[in-house]
Order: sequence, then C-alpha cells, then structure tokens
Amino acid sequence: MNAKKTKKIVVLATGGTIAGLASHAAKPQDYKAGQVDVADLLQGVAHDGLELLTEQVAQIDSKDMSFLVWQSLLARVAHWVDQDDVQGVVITHGTDTLEETAYFLQTVLQPTKPVAMTCAMLPANAPDSDGPGNLKDALAWVQQPIALGVSVACAGQVHAGQAVQKNHSHQRNPFTSQAGITHPVALHVPSVAQVLACTHWPRVELVFNHTSADGRLVHALMVHDAPQGWVVAGSGNGTLHHELEAALLDAQKQGAQVLRASRCAQGGVQSREADVLPHAGGLTAVQARVALLLHLVAQQT
Ligand code: SIN
Repeated sequence: MNAKKTKKIVVLATGGTIAGLASHAAKPQDYKAGQVDVADLLQGVAHDGLELLTEQVAQIDSKDMSFLVWQSLLARVAHWVDQDDVQGVVITHGTDTLEETAYFLQTVLQPTKPVAMTCAMLPANAPDSDGPGNLKDALAWVQQPIALGVSVACAGQVHAGQAVQKNHSHQRNPFTSQAGITHPVALHVPSVAQVLACTHWPRVELVFNHTSADGRLVHALMVHDAPQGWVVAGSGNGTLHHELEAALLDAQKQGAQVLRASRCAQGGVQSREADVLPHAGGLTAVQARVALLLHLVAQQT
C-alpha cells in the first residue's frame, strides 16, 4: 500500500512580541519581546496532520535586527525551501522591522515555495494574544496552492513581502500593503552566496527632509566616516531642501550612492524633469535602504 507522504512545514523563530512575555498578564503593554521558544509557541496552535520542524534562529526584539541574524535566517530559509519534502516555511518575527526582513528575503531569495512571516502585537501571555491566531493563519497559508514567495500573515490578512509596511504603532492590524512595488531594475541584487559571504556590510544612512534640513549631518558624516550610501526620505514627491540636496550631491560626487524616497506613507516618488538625484520609485525609505545595501553588496568583489 502506498501511504501518502506528509509534506513538512518548517517554523523558524526569531523572537518578537509573538514570543514576548508581559510581567503581568493584565498589563500586556509592559512586556519583553523574544522570551518564549518556538516549541512552546506552537503548543497553543492546532496543527493536527502537519509535520512541523522547528528551529530557533534568534530570540530578539526586532528593533535589534542585525545583518548577522539576516544571514542566519537567509541560510536556513534557503536550506529548507530546497528540500523536496518541505512544503513551505513559516517565520515568526517582531512587527517593528518585519517589513525590512520581508523585503530582504524576497529580493535575495525569490523563493519558489511559500515563506510566510507572522507576528503579534500582544505578548504570548496576554489573555487575548493575537499570536496563536496569526501563527495558525501562516501555517494554513503556506499550504495554499496560490501561496508563493515571501508573504506576511497578520490579523486575517496576507501581504506580499515586498509591499508590506507597518503603518500603525499599536493596533492589532499594523500592516498595509503598497500597490505594485517591484525592485528597481537599476539596482543589482546579490546572490544568496554573496550575501552569506558578506563580512563587511556597506554603510547606508537614512536621513529625512524637513524644515531647515541644512545637510550638516551629511557633510559631517562624509568627513568622519563616509557611508557608501544615502537614502533620503524626501517630502512629498521626494523633494529636498536645497541645502540638503547640495550636501547629498556633494556626497554623490565623493562616491556615495544616493537614492531619494518619500517620507509619505504611500505613493513613492515619480520622475520629474528637474530631478537631480535618482529616486527609488515606489519603494518606501526603509525598503530603499535595504535595496541600496543589497546593490552595494552585489558590487563587492
Ligand atoms: C518586535 O518588533 O520585536 C517587537 C514589537 C512587535 O513584535 O510588535
């Protein structure tokens, strides 16, 4: 008799509020992220009939996300999606920098199997924690035939990994998706091997345009510790105070790569004839920073 083989789902945990514990269940806002291990997280989630493999890749608050954790996570996702008997991968992650990791993983790996990231806004021991429901949804999503590549399952919605953005600091559904975001073709994407081998990550700084943005910060840093890249979150359609623009043009002349995004939550930057600095199209400023980092990694020998 031919027993039907069960496909495996791999759960990679990195910490976050989903694995957080409040000092008192009645005060869920006073908590520490990244406390509960992946096996315990899954105890509260029905997964009958699924063969789950788990790995604790990190145990951090995602505000502390680092290139090293990104590399570990990329290595493990790349390994597991390559296994014939693995149907998909679920990643638990803090909400705060989830959009950066989602953009990073999708851009570098472009997995042909589903990789669902999930998270929570309330810690694991809050009476009405959203973590178990989100985790259950992510496990269900990676079994859907239409699921492909990196996505984010949260609060009953699924967002594409390259489009998701945290837009609310505390409501249960903190994410929205930007429409039609693609990686700008002018920026190179390194191979998985190049990213995993990278020991000197380029410095890419992020600055804002604002009233009296005089570019002093850019000038000072270029003298002190010249970053290889600058992303500027411009006002409106990526507009810049003339002094900040002059400082960034100067940085560009010194060899830094500059990308102009918008500090508006939606819409990105559209080309105009008067543009003097390249723009990041529909990417948000934090996505543009990841894209520029990857571009610079791709150019390292
Ligand atoms: C974190 O990003 O690790 C903490 C906040 C959250 O998960 O909502």
